Amino acid sequence: VYPAIVSDSDLWVEVMLDELPRSISWSGENLKLLDQRLLPEKEEYWLCERSDQVEDAIRQLVVRGAPAIGIAAAYGSLLGLNSSGSLDAMKCQFREQADQLEAARPTAVNLSWALARMCAVADGFDGSCPELLQRLTSEAQQIHEEDKQLCLQIGRHALPIVRQYPNVLTHCNAGSLAVSELGTALAPIYLAHESGVPLHVWVDETRPLFQGARLTAFELGRAGVPHTVITDSMAASVMAAGKVGMVIVGADRVAANGDVANKIGTLGLAVLAQHFDIPFYVACPGSTVDLSTSEGNQIQIEERAREEITGSDAGQLVPITSPVFNPAFDVTPAALITAIVTEQGVLKPPFNLSLEKAHG
Ligand code: MRU
Repeated sequence: VYPAIVSDSDLWVEVMLDELPRSISWSGENLKLLDQRLLPEKEEYWLCERSDQVEDAIRQLVVRGAPAIGIAAAYGSLLGLNSSGSLDAMKCQFREQADQLEAARPTAVNLSWALARMCAVADGFDGSCPELLQRLTSEAQQIHEEDKQLCLQIGRHALPIVRQYPNVLTHCNAGSLAVSELGTALAPIYLAHESGVPLHVWVDETRPLFQGARLTAFELGRAGVPHTVITDSMAASVMAAGKVGMVIVGADRVAANGDVANKIGTLGLAVLAQHFDIPFYVACPGSTVDLSTSEGNQIQIEERAREEITGSDAGQLVPITSPVFNPAFDVTPAALITAIVTEQGVLKPPFNLSLEKAHG
């Protein structure tokens, strides 16, 4: 029997949050982003004072992970706004900045979701420019704060599942670095670890950008969670050996029928999990659920630069003449998913009904 989780103010939750890295901090005037490209070697920050710097940071994956790019874009949309001219001019500049930010990455719906909230504030506003800036700042801070609470709720809903299956496999990074704090897929893992569950996490390295090996292993290590990094191609044999009790991953967009877009490689894991009869869970906030997209084949999948796979001049991994295909995400059909955990609870199939009920 493990100690029960009691309330937000539990000291151990606070202590654990102190151990975890923060990807986004807002000073009141500028945005500080942990440069995730450099982890785990260096902890360096980008200071953004203009919207285009945030856009660049999102494109280059300085900040990444669906909820984190939504939060960063919300702050980015208001950076550098000229509040000393007319209200119309300020709204126009805001709209341009929001459009640029939205185009930075297409797959994670949290980006457009957060910007839609910011735009709703600007659209309906009729007052002075400094007041509009104040309202936009409050909205961005609220998006940021809400995300912290959502992560905790996701963690609490998924905690009994991790207690049942303490040998976990995860892919990419859906931890503290990918959100405001705590994470989505990693939230129940942190809560379970802190409440004394003897768990172990298999961390898929996540080719080609190694978000698992570089980021998930980094933050699990910081929090003292026992884990082992494997290459993506080892997942099948680790499962075959009976060493994985459950798989849990994050999501970039969940369609109305429960199909899930997430980091490339997620689909392969879901197929394997079905073969080995291992439950496969997705954890995400409601802002990742996109009921306007009826099924996964309508989700735009971002394709990224060939150099992410081939390496650079400094170290070529692929012949210069070989074509390369580099989709950043794939879509896992709802039929392969055991449950989707959101702040509303553990949603089970049929997902068209459970998602609509919880997030419609
Ligand atoms: O390309 P990335 O690193 O932004 O991809 C991130 C993922 O696919 C995550 O699993 C997803 O955004 C969920 S983060 C809570």
